[in-house]
Amino acid sequence: MHSLPSQNLVAPVSDARAACQMEVAIGCRSGLQAEQDKFFGACYQPHRSFSKLYGNSLASAQDFFDREAPVETAPERPAPLASEASGPLRGRFRPPGDKSISHRALIFGLLCVGETAIEGLLEGEDVLRTAAACRALGAHVERQGEGRWRVKGCGVGSLLAPKETLDFGNAGTGSRLMMGVVGGHGITACFDGDASLRKRPMRRILDPLALMGAEVLSEAQGGCCPILLKGTPEPVPIEYRLPVASAQIKSAVLLAGLNSPGRTSVIEPEASRDHTEKMLLHFGAQIHVEAFGPHGRKILLEGRPELRPSPVIVPADPSSAAFPLVAATIVHGSDIVIEGMMMNPLRTGLLTTLLEMGAYIEVQGARIEGGEEVADLRVRSAALKGVDVPAARAPSMIDEYPVLAIAAAYATGETRMRGLHELRVKESDRLQAVADGLRAAGVEYKIECDDLIVQGVGGEVPGGGMVMTHLDHRIAMSFLCLGLASKKPMAIDDARMIATSFPAFKLSMERLGARFS
Ligand code: S3P
Repeated sequence: MHSLPSQNLVAPVSDARAACQMEVAIGCRSGLQAEQDKFFGACYQPHRSFSKLYGNSLASAQDFFDREAPVETAPERPAPLASEASGPLRGRFRPPGDKSISHRALIFGLLCVGETAIEGLLEGEDVLRTAAACRALGAHVERQGEGRWRVKGCGVGSLLAPKETLDFGNAGTGSRLMMGVVGGHGITACFDGDASLRKRPMRRILDPLALMGAEVLSEAQGGCCPILLKGTPEPVPIEYRLPVASAQIKSAVLLAGLNSPGRTSVIEPEASRDHTEKMLLHFGAQIHVEAFGPHGRKILLEGRPELRPSPVIVPADPSSAAFPLVAATIVHGSDIVIEGMMMNPLRTGLLTTLLEMGAYIEVQGARIEGGEEVADLRVRSAALKGVDVPAARAPSMIDEYPVLAIAAAYATGETRMRGLHELRVKESDRLQAVADGLRAAGVEYKIECDDLIVQGVGGEVPGGGMVMTHLDHRIAMSFLCLGLASKKPMAIDDARMIATSFPAFKLSMERLGARFS
């Protein structure tokens, strides 16, 4: 299976190592970066920003990706945006490709020898950074048209050590999954990202990787990026029980286990999204999944499989569909169709909750596409009522709580969302960011331990405030949705991060009738 010439096989520690250690020591990338950090504080610090260099044109995705050398750009200024009461939303809309599956499709392309064809890849900044990382690890990655990508991979056990720091920007998923890949190979790589990624906890990934034999050569305070990770060429097969319900941790361990000489098993007490498991099967790995306790699963993976390139069709992202879904529900008179949304039951917690709240959602044309359940959703505006959302539902709607809080603000009565501790460690402290945003919109709420309780207005929300997004795309899009039905316009301090997951958000929403200023 190792078809690469010997000089391309696992290389010694890369040149990035010394530079990365220095960065960790001084806590910044360069003198220039340090000056920018001082000046702009916590604002977005793109190492090379797609939107800065090329705007949000999807046609430019390959150009961005093709730049070999990191480009230092002056940091962009935040781009405030406001939304205002809009006429009824009408029309059909296809959300962008699923972010979770897009990251994984590229990574699996890297991990097999031969060409993997991907259709419908999300061309958001987060995924483009994963594409760049795959290239840095030895894959040939090419964009052939909108959403159409080809990856010629190197195969498990045959990755190159990257010469540069792997800069994941804002992407938690890309960086954590790739730590799993590097951790299970005899290569060393430096992982870094923007101000948001540098605050996110990485020990949850590094701890199991250390059990498998990987070594953290340096890290910033609290186990954060920049992190210099030395992988092991012989990952120890472990049985790992997840300390929190997290598909990212599960996936990192499984990806590291791919190069292990034995069987790796992961126990998750609460089932989380299963895209890695499905893709392992699809690419020919030997994997067995069984029930564990009332809500959990145990996944067993045989190491060193002969992965074979397999085409991937990326379904539409339910986490992006969530925005028009909630917007059409709260904007009076709306009637839209969301096309081809992925209906994987481990991703549909928001749908279940909105239906309990009284939303009008008609599931049409349920079918299988690219190995995932998908359907078209007809959504009409509806009066909502407050509900109690159980903590057990959190893994299936973990990214949707900000926009659910918007629906709850318009509902009659109280909505209690239980067990939201994981929201504290997303792109921002989402629990706090949502609470602050609700306050800015004139909506009452309480935080009790890990629960968020929203006192619904039962009609028009006052609006009129400015929301701090803290480099968090989902906070940005959620509060823009709130403003589409509020009495006064709703502003956000910065819309740039929307490009990480849903570059065409504004345009797509405008086509449905949303108004922004
Ligand atoms: C993701 C898993 C979730 C989610 C993230 C994407 C994935 O994170 O919040 O946006 O693709 O595996 P956790 O696994 O940490 O909950």
